[in-house]
Amino acid sequence: MTDHGVAIVTGGASGIGLAIARALLGDGWKLIIADLAQGPLDAAHAELERLRPNATKSVIMDVADEASVIAGLEGCEDGFGPVRGLVNSAGIGRDTPFFETSVEVFRKVLDINLVGTFIVAREAGKLMRTHGRGAIVNIASISGQRGNLGRSAYGASKGGVITLTQVMACELAPENIRVNAIAPGPVETPLV
Ligand SMILES: NC(=O)c1ccc[n+]([C@@H]2O[C@H](COP(=O)([O-])OP(=O)(O)OC[C@H]3O[C@@H](n4cnc5c(N)ncnc54)[C@H](O)[C@@H]3O)[C@@H](O)[C@H]2O)c1
Repeated sequence: MTDHGVAIVTGGASGIGLAIARALLGDGWKLIIADLAQGPLDAAHAELERLRPNATKSVIMDVADEASVIAGLEGCEDGFGPVRGLVNSAGIGRDTPFFETSVEVFRKVLDINLVGTFIVAREAGKLMRTHGRGAIVNIASISGQRGNLGRSAYGASKGGVITLTQVMACELAPENIRVNAIAPGPVETPLV
């Protein structure tokens, strides 16, 4: 099995993030799964340990909180391996009619889905830059590509993720860091 190095998967305790974690592990990556709460992280970690022992670390992290991201990634490579991959899957969904969308909800969705993606990508990208290469995948959504009912906050956040990805792809290419986004349609997960 090829040793690719370490991939960080945010939102790795559930849904698409956990499915990606399983696939990366099977493909030879070591993993750092990052998520909000200890219980779901422990359950996901135990499952991934059964798939391949001693290849997964888990870390509590709020992607929208810069200090939490920096603390979560501090020393994460020590005795483990170089970070060469990042999947930004942490996110929340909100389905609210436009006139019933509060500023608080709008800001929260942008904070987690867009600002969180930016913070983790910047911090993990710094690690990749020191190793001379890396790959980042941001999970966007078809709701970021077209106007879906009830998706003013969510769609704006994912549209932002797509543009952020394009800018990062241009800026990080000279660092040998590839940046792409995936825009899934509906997937049956706890989010939906
Ligand atoms: N399920 C779908 O239909 C669908 C479609 C398109 C895009 N997506 C996107 O895929 C990604 C994963 O969604 P999912 O369906 O797997 O949902 P999910 O709820 O199963 O997983 C999302 C994970 O992100 C974590 N998370 C939420 N806020 C966080 C924060 N502030 N810091 C760290 N972790 C946080 C949650 O705890 C959860 O474990 C999201 O970005 C979502 O917008 C999902």
